[in-house]
Amino acid sequence: MAFDLNKIREEFPLLSRKVYGKPLIYLDNAATAQKPRVVIEAIDRLYREENANIHRGVHHLSERCTELYEEARMRVVRLLGAEDRGEIVFTAGATAAINLVASSYGEMAVREGDNLVVSEMEHHSNIVPWQLLCERKGAEIRVLPFDDEGRLMIEKLPELIDERTRIVAVAQASNVLGTMPDVAEIVRVAHTKGVPVMVDGCQGVVHSAVDVKALDCDFYAFSSHKLYGPTGVGVLYGKREWLEQMPPYMGGGDMVSRVSFGGTTYAELPLKFEAGTANYIDAIGLGEAIKWLEDFNREELVAWENELRVAAEAKLSEIEGLTIYGRTPEKCSIVSFNIEGVHNYDLGMILDKLGIAVRTGAHCADPVMDHFGIRGTCRASFSFYNTMDEVDALVAGVRRAVQMLK
Ligand code: ALA
Repeated sequence: MAFDLNKIREEFPLLSRKVYGKPLIYLDNAATAQKPRVVIEAIDRLYREENANIHRGVHHLSERCTELYEEARMRVVRLLGAEDRGEIVFTAGATAAINLVASSYGEMAVREGDNLVVSEMEHHSNIVPWQLLCERKGAEIRVLPFDDEGRLMIEKLPELIDERTRIVAVAQASNVLGTMPDVAEIVRVAHTKGVPVMVDGCQGVVHSAVDVKALDCDFYAFSSHKLYGPTGVGVLYGKREWLEQMPPYMGGGDMVSRVSFGGTTYAELPLKFEAGTANYIDAIGLGEAIKWLEDFNREELVAWENELRVAAEAKLSEIEGLTIYGRTPEKCSIVSFNIEGVHNYDLGMILDKLGIAVRTGAHCADPVMDHFGIRGTCRASFSFYNTMDEVDALVAGVRRAVQMLK
């Protein structure tokens, strides 16, 4: 490990708390990550000293908040390698970003009889907006499957795409299996047939460096709260050529140029898609989180997360009756598992009493559960701030739970 883990942990106040009198072992990072002090303090400072609505006032505070908000946007531009600020829309989260595309692009591009390709390993947020669109338009969803190892079967993509395919939707990393499919290859295949690609980057942006230009994806969404920023804000990257053509998603203040009852003209990108008062405080908080991350070598952080994941997989695999879902080599630091004869919920409850926070259930990915014929899994998801001792505590906790439950 090339960084000082203890120092990093000190930056996250919540990590030092106890639950049930035991030190917290937080392994639910795929659901939401804890926040570094700089993010917490920035939000506190903004509300105490700088708050005023953005893009509206000529007064000092309004200009200051506008400046900070647009600085945060530029941090996202650099984080993703976007062309310029016009390609970065702040939304209420990744779900809102995907819904924006499904509504706006869908309204423009999808007709009765068309089809959309969605991978089998998607979170519900990258399935249901497309289903709603299909219901509205009389279009159909085609499913790009994964195999029992959790590998997305990209080789099947060409046969799923035809001249009526309007979009391919895929996660950069599965929130259940950890699988990181070759998104650049998916984009390449889709583009040879003229089909745009929407990437759900919620887990991907946390566990890899992202370059939307290199991926060549058309849309990319992520949530702030999984990337160490505040809740309630997310990002949609869209290629300018698409965002320019797409109709507004929501109408309201800030997204207009001039309003009259005779007709309304819309603001330039990205504000065309930011109706109403934006969640500027949390967007600025996201900017602080990105700024904080910029001080680290992301590859080193990801390498440590993977060390934790590989160790957890190896040690958990020694437990009799334990199955890990998602065994592809290209994985992020997510380990989903079940133990024969033990309900994932009971396992999660016992781990919780030991101070270990994991997620249980279907993880908003019912089709992944259906694939394996299960109702849920226990999921440990690691951040760079986790320790090898915490991996050992997880494994010991699982062993103890199994003794109690079997
Ligand atoms: N999408 C989040 C998860 O996977 C909430 O846990």
